[in-house]
Amino acid sequence: MGLARRKFDTLVIGAGGGGLRAALQLSQAEANVAVVSKVFPTRSHTVAAQGGINAALANVTPDNWHWHMYDTVKGSDYLGDQDAIEYMCRAASKVVIELEHSGVPFSRLDNGNIYQRPFGGQSQNFGGEQAARTCAAADRTGHVLLHTLYQQNIQAQTHFFDEYFAIDLIRDDEGYILGALVLEIETGEPLLIEAKTTLIATGGVGRLFKTNTNARINTGDGMAMALRAGIPVQDMEFFQFHPTGIAGKGMLLSEGARGEGGYLINGEGERFMERYAPQAKDLASRDVVSRSIAIEIREGRGCGPNKDHVLLKVNHLDSELVKKRLPAIRDLCLTFAHKDMAEEPVPVSPTAHYTMGGIPTNRYGQVVMPVGSSPEDIIPGLYAVGECACVSVHGANRLGGNSLLDIVVFGRAAGKNIIKYLSEARYHRKMNQDSVDQAMAHLARWDQKGDGLSIDGLKNELQETMEKYCGVFRTQDVLQEGVDKVLDIEKRLEDARLTDHSKIFNTARIEALELENLVDLGIATVKAALARTESRGAHSRMDYPERDDVHWLKHSLYFKEDKRLDFKPVRTKPLTVESFAPKPRVY
Ligand code: FUM
Repeated sequence: MGLARRKFDTLVIGAGGGGLRAALQLSQAEANVAVVSKVFPTRSHTVAAQGGINAALANVTPDNWHWHMYDTVKGSDYLGDQDAIEYMCRAASKVVIELEHSGVPFSRLDNGNIYQRPFGGQSQNFGGEQAARTCAAADRTGHVLLHTLYQQNIQAQTHFFDEYFAIDLIRDDEGYILGALVLEIETGEPLLIEAKTTLIATGGVGRLFKTNTNARINTGDGMAMALRAGIPVQDMEFFQFHPTGIAGKGMLLSEGARGEGGYLINGEGERFMERYAPQAKDLASRDVVSRSIAIEIREGRGCGPNKDHVLLKVNHLDSELVKKRLPAIRDLCLTFAHKDMAEEPVPVSPTAHYTMGGIPTNRYGQVVMPVGSSPEDIIPGLYAVGECACVSVHGANRLGGNSLLDIVVFGRAAGKNIIKYLSEARYHRKMNQDSVDQAMAHLARWDQKGDGLSIDGLKNELQETMEKYCGVFRTQDVLQEGVDKVLDIEKRLEDARLTDHSKIFNTARIEALELENLVDLGIATVKAALARTESRGAHSRMDYPERDDVHWLKHSLYFKEDKRLDFKPVRTKPLTVESFAPKPRVY
């Protein structure tokens, strides 16, 4: 029997907020859209976003998009591209109101307006008083947003392929991307989806690290597919550690807890963020708070018998407010830390959370091949949005509340650009058979059975290596050791085989494919971290403690083929306003 094929105008890979926002735009314009998701769509990781989505609505404090832009550029440690940041911050209010009108049940102020809470790194008037810019639905903002977008897509007749895993992109002879080979997880049957345009929206790669806030599905599949197609990944050295994961376990306890008035204390009962960030205190930018916690622990001021965590305290707040504004994280604490945060402090530590890097795109979501070309070359037919992409609005450190914004702003922008593209691309182009054969061979590699190494064992080793050798603080020697170890894991993975009984469990094949993706992205991350000899945002080198704008105000690019790094300039010029020039970053 030949390979099964389906044809669509657009293939969207990933059913989180970015993919669904783009799909909605397209389906409403009567494009024929397929969304492929390896889990049921409403289990995509957007569902886990808690604290909210940033927009300068000024419902609680004075605000405007220009202040939001300033905070985002500063938060990015000046590595964010200012044209994209301006675009996102200007669009924020419009997209949030659109979400409200499409049914997202935001929490409300007494006057009926959308509730907004203070979040880290937010200010009024370019670095002044704390702003309250994060629009929230209690602490389940991602959940309600994703469910609303899914329902809207069902109404718009988007076609869903639930529990299908994407293997590889397919090209034609001229380099157009024409869809992907996917695998139905339940049956193990491959399916070729031909599409005039393909959008990757597969989320981040938080599963690279042992302790993380991410869903099991976050294995960077789309980024790794791009790498295999010869496209680099950008700025992978910048991985965000969220300050407040449940200690030792990793589940996210939203920054919203500190936004509502919570704070952190060390083993001496001290509110230590007052020392590190005298103005913003516990609502300094995430990289600053995570580093401060790590220093407290390293210098022996941690809590508990091993002094390996600090405490998040909200029990001084009205317990009714905690229950109303933070119900989901209170539940998480009850389940995983066996503590009621309304009654007592809970143990927390920095936890791998968000991939700032990803597939390089412009602000229309088009994937760009950035080296040596001006204007940047676009890969025809290929788009990427959300955490798998690097547009780059987060630079070296993302502000909390800007990731839900990123996915809806750029999901919408990509949808609009694809509609334009489709109006000119009337017919499906002919696929290159070699490209299809290569994707099939990639899949078939895991049909070879034998007494191989355990996939699970290698995955644990990779996650432990990344945590130990590429964590919050980094040095040359430790990173070099990390590179050697990850390359050794890559080598051993080549010899790995699935054991025979995995014929019964098709999911074993998926886990092997996911591990390949993780390994490629692990190499990209640790190599880029080794190369960057400065400290910027989330990338903190103890041997190079200063930011170095003379040599390093540039994006890194990692290519899989020859494991090569290259660099490209930061776009420091915004669209309509003046640039924010780099200056010392204090909170
Ligand atoms: O802390 C949080 O609620 C996470 C938000 C985010 O990552 O944007």
